[in-house]
Amino acid sequence: MAQHYLGFTDPDPADFGIPPLPHPPYPVPEPIEDPRPWLDPTFPCVANWVTTLNGAFIHGAFGRHFTFDPAALQPLLGRVPQVKRDVDAHMEKLIQAALGKEFGKAGGTSPTTILQKMVAAEQSALLFGTPQQKKQVGEKIGRDLVGMVNGMVDNVTSAVSNAVDFFLSHRSAQEMATEVAQTVIPAGRPGADAPENHGRRRQLWGMIREALRFNAPVPFLLRIANEDLVLAPGTARETSVAKGTIVFLGVCSAMLDEAKWEQAPEFRPDRPWVDADDLIFGTGWHDCFGKYIAQAQIVEMVRALLTLQNFRRAPGRLGKLEYGTFFPKQLAADFGPQPIQTALTAIMEIKQPYAFHVQALKFILSQAYQQVVDVLDRVGTVHFARFVFLENDTKLALMTSYDGSFDTYMKNYIEVAGDLFNLM
Ligand code: HEM
Repeated sequence: MAQHYLGFTDPDPADFGIPPLPHPPYPVPEPIEDPRPWLDPTFPCVANWVTTLNGAFIHGAFGRHFTFDPAALQPLLGRVPQVKRDVDAHMEKLIQAALGKEFGKAGGTSPTTILQKMVAAEQSALLFGTPQQKKQVGEKIGRDLVGMVNGMVDNVTSAVSNAVDFFLSHRSAQEMATEVAQTVIPAGRPGADAPENHGRRRQLWGMIREALRFNAPVPFLLRIANEDLVLAPGTARETSVAKGTIVFLGVCSAMLDEAKWEQAPEFRPDRPWVDADDLIFGTGWHDCFGKYIAQAQIVEMVRALLTLQNFRRAPGRLGKLEYGTFFPKQLAADFGPQPIQTALTAIMEIKQPYAFHVQALKFILSQAYQQVVDVLDRVGTVHFARFVFLENDTKLALMTSYDGSFDTYMKNYIEVAGDLFNLM
């Protein structure tokens, strides 16, 4: 008979005839190693490059940084002035080289690269404008190019991660989106460019956009008031904003505004969207330059994920969406066959003298309760575990139920819970 146990509140689902919960084995190293050394600003990785460029972009526009942890980012942000000078100098060279091609003139060439196309569009201002105009147009081309790098890398990553995270948390939304995703012909395959396939892509985008309403990839828009303003005059939200104030516009809060959106907290992919209310890519004068490119990228990436067999969140911490600096750092997902749960009971003889060792074991187990819970959470493949003293406190049973192979289970256990078992 069990006299004492240290266990989880979760009973064994099998006791109630409930089929085992599907979770694959997933060794979770702790602490999770971050492959990107954020704090080494000289490390030549895309993440550092984009973060620093992003810093330069924001600093260029607002003369300051906006970050929740400036100390952690300091080494990267410290490079911003130099990066900005280097980018400006390099852009100036590229612009001059492009101007030398005399686009559109007799004997001139046609623009081929993105930069050349931007220069061609602004050619007359760049050639014949005042020095001030030339400077402004040059800066604008630089901002747009850097914006493209940031938009394509960071914002698209955020959009895909946020949308997938939403679907993985809302089963019926995931099923709806998967049903549509399965009908979309992937880019490059016959029929991909057919109008009906574009229709399906638009339908999938509608679902992704509705998911992003709850967690927008760019959660704030920044503005500096050019003059004294009164926002929402005559309403309960009337707010005066003095000239020069930096204003953060909360995109998600606006897109969840019950006064504006019918049943705002519900996932309704068929809700009518008025362009001006769709703030995911901004709106008005500074509306996102790469909106349609990004939509195509996001739809294709989310489609590829949703159509994987049994697409699901990875267990444990890896499967939780975590943000690094401004952008997602990890969200691990799994697909493929789902392993079956296995029960394991190990009965261990307690060392003599019993009374002394039983007391010590009970002490360890009661003191280590939270630690054991944390450890098992990190292992990620254990559904429940329970220690039970048997036969007049002469034996200790460990009853557990886990996913995947016995080898993986043991490896996880040894790596994560080895110290605790050594102590016992
Ligand atoms: C999911 C992906 C993307 C999201 C969520 C996003 C979001 C935004 C938002 C909210 C703005 C408006 C900023 C404001 O009003 O202050 C913006 C502007 C901008 N975006 Fe994107 N963007 C994305 C992808 C891209 C891509 C792929 C590119 C380039 C090809 C790009 C280039 C730009 C540029 C250059 C601007 C500045 C436009 C201006 O100020 O006139 N973005 N983006």
